[in-house]
Amino acid sequence: MGRKVIIAGNWKMNKNAAEGAALVEELKHICADSGCSCCGEVDVVVCPPFTTIAAVVEAAKGTPIKVGAQNIHWADNGAFTGEISGDMLKTSGVEYVIIGHSERRQYFGETDATVNARLKAALKYGLKPIVCVGELLAEREANRTEAVLSTQIRGGFAGITGEEMAGIVVAYEPVWAIGTGKTATPEIAEAAHAHIRGELAAMFGTEVAEKVRIQYGGSMKSANARELVAQKDIDGGLIGGAALKAGEFAALIREALGK
Ligand code: 13P
Repeated sequence: MGRKVIIAGNWKMNKNAAEGAALVEELKHICADSGCSCCGEVDVVVCPPFTTIAAVVEAAKGTPIKVGAQNIHWADNGAFTGEISGDMLKTSGVEYVIIGHSERRQYFGETDATVNARLKAALKYGLKPIVCVGELLAEREANRTEAVLSTQIRGGFAGITGEEMAGIVVAYEPVWAIGTGKTATPEIAEAAHAHIRGELAAMFGTEVAEKVRIQYGGSMKSANARELVAQKDIDGGLIGGAALKAGEFAALIREALGK
């Protein structure tokens, strides 16, 4: 399909500025020492907390490592205490932004409508969105996985053009696999990814759907990245725990590339 693999580390609420810069430095050393060119062959993104972004942007300068944020507000500015705007992210050197992570949906009242509003703000500011979808364990057990994913996609991507959609990254993160050590099997993940791509094809046409990169997220690590990314519709990973140690993250990138 020619879709470039994209591996993104979602650091969640981990790593202060010094720790974040140190992690990127270590990653740089590992790549230099091994002569590895993986970061050029895949898109590698790190998504630190807001206050760590500046230090990480500085540390990643001159490398292929790209920086992302973990959230964005839909307004340009104003009385939204605790929120961050697209302009603030863009001018901080951020290129990607995660939107609608399940932890935001679970703990902070994020809905498909707010995901859609944040997505539109990201596009307005030229940021590359990584939009997360995924079902809860109870939803999977009730055989509602596909219906849940379809609803999240239809709501989250409402009013988006095909051209915009082609540049958006979708992350399929089954909530029962996040931070639990329970990875979806490659077959389970591939079935969900294929469903997501089918839903995108219904909304935007096959040509657009084939361009969209769909990451898997949920206990992905170096030991399972290869077989997951080998699946037809799995184009990379959104990594939590395994992105917090440079050695493991670098190993995961190599495995995802099949090296
Ligand atoms: P873990 O890799 O820690 O399961 O987290 C996945 C995730 O939520 C990435 O956004």
